[in-house]
Amino acid sequence: MEDVILNVRGVNKEFPGVKALDDMHFTLRRGEIHALLGENGAGKSTLMNVLSGAYTPDSGEITLDGEAVRFRNPMDAEKKGVSIVHQELAAFGSSTVGENIFTTRAPRNALGMIDYAKMYKQARALLDEYGFTDVNERRLMRRLSVGRQQIVEILRAVSKDAKVLILDEPTSALTEKETDILMQIMRDLNQRGVSIVYISHRLEEVFRICDTATIMRDGRYIVTRPVAESSRDELVRYMVGRDVVHQYGAGTSQVGSELLRLENVSYKKTLRGVSLTLHKGEVLGLAGLEGAGRTELLEVLFGVLRPESGRVLLDGKEVHFHSPSDAKAAGLAFITKDRKNRGLFLRKSISDNYLAANLDRLTRRGFTQFKMARKGAEEYKERFNIRTPDVKKRVMKLSGGNQQKVLLSMWVSRQPRILLIDEPTRGIDVGTKESIHQLIRQYAKSGMGVIMVSSDMPELIGASDRIVALYEGEVTGELALGAVTEEKIMALTSGITLSERVSE
Ligand SMILES: Nc1ncnc2c1ncn2[C@@H]1O[C@H](COP(=O)(O)OP(=O)(O)OP(=O)(O)O)[C@@H](O)[C@H]1O
Ligand SMILES: [Mg+2]
Repeated sequence: MEDVILNVRGVNKEFPGVKALDDMHFTLRRGEIHALLGENGAGKSTLMNVLSGAYTPDSGEITLDGEAVRFRNPMDAEKKGVSIVHQELAAFGSSTVGENIFTTRAPRNALGMIDYAKMYKQARALLDEYGFTDVNERRLMRRLSVGRQQIVEILRAVSKDAKVLILDEPTSALTEKETDILMQIMRDLNQRGVSIVYISHRLEEVFRICDTATIMRDGRYIVTRPVAESSRDELVRYMVGRDVVHQYGAGTSQVGSELLRLENVSYKKTLRGVSLTLHKGEVLGLAGLEGAGRTELLEVLFGVLRPESGRVLLDGKEVHFHSPSDAKAAGLAFITKDRKNRGLFLRKSISDNYLAANLDRLTRRGFTQFKMARKGAEEYKERFNIRTPDVKKRVMKLSGGNQQKVLLSMWVSRQPRILLIDEPTRGIDVGTKESIHQLIRQYAKSGMGVIMVSSDMPELIGASDRIVALYEGEVTGELALGAVTEEKIMALTSGITLSERVSE
């Protein structure tokens, strides 16, 4: 079969207590874009880690271009033409964009030293070639947004003349515009003969760009289907093993008295005179593009940033949060979208992460209540269906989607009065997405107020009782339930006021 570039047969991989890959097989054809689908914890990343040399399988065969291969490590795989962009970004915070793109392959001068001028010139050319004219090649990686970091990682992978490129959930942190650019990059590469494996929980993307889809469940192969001949429902059924009828729940809870009010809040150039209110039982959606100030607004509310002017009122009384702990003490919780750097202690167990979020409540007479933390963590593991044999497992050993569930459950366990949540279902599979929306709604129904930022349009529209749109730090409009359409949101978030549009 010479049209096959990469073939996997009978691969097994076991971790303590988990059979991550169970007699898995997978065939990648030359020149195709092949989606790998499955629920959180199904084994997608594990399979890709085996294919890119990061993990050694317990057994099984891999052939590349018809020859049996055994990758000793990721560098070895790269040399043979298989490159991967990982789901969880490796931390290269203190290196620059250019250094990160070239790592070990930086151009060198006659003395064998890295030729920085040349390296940055090449990095610049690469960034320009792919349309990232606004990313500075000398900037530190950690100064970029998560989305931008991801794009640099992708450029790093494509600059290595890969035959096979593996993208593990590349778009979960990207804005719509960045996603469009990525799709373009994928098409370009594909036309140059690169075969691509694409992992994503966003099925619209799969339908947009992929030729074939393989579905796996519980570490096992289920089916491979041509995308053009499949429906969304069919793929979901293979993944989840049942039909998923998505109910987001907007408008189903009793909206009560005012909880929170912002009056004319400004912060540097990112927030300009923002006023809004949040009520008990309400899910308020914040719409906006990258740079509109959505995350900064949440950070001001949580005491991460200090507003330069304006007032924040909680239950009608003005509050000044000097730090996140002030906000926590007042009953607020903040679920960040940057879970890897700021959300979780990856090296600690699920139970310890739970403890960290609840430390103020789980300390009695100076003694930390480890047992209670364990019990609490176990309860939330059930409630959020976190797939792991044990809450003593380190968070870094969980699949990406299950890490997100840990982050969510930690904060919800505090039973906050106000939940601030940035991209709640990033990297979460379809079935679990539904249960997370149900949980958020359940908490709203019990009187919690929720402010949610989401770039996922169906989620934003479906889960919010009311939507406030931001454009360059200013509120450009508010849409009540029933009046929301995707078109109106697009107009407001791109700075076109509705009246302007009407008078066009
Ligand atoms: N290094 C590891 N040590 C222990 N267990 C692991 C390790 N890596 C993965 N696992 C376990 O293997 C199973 C499969 O995980 P994997 O990351 O492959 O899932 P996934 O399909 O990529 O899920 P997601 O969509 O959430 O990213 C999970 O139960 C996970 O906890
Ligand atoms: Mg994964």
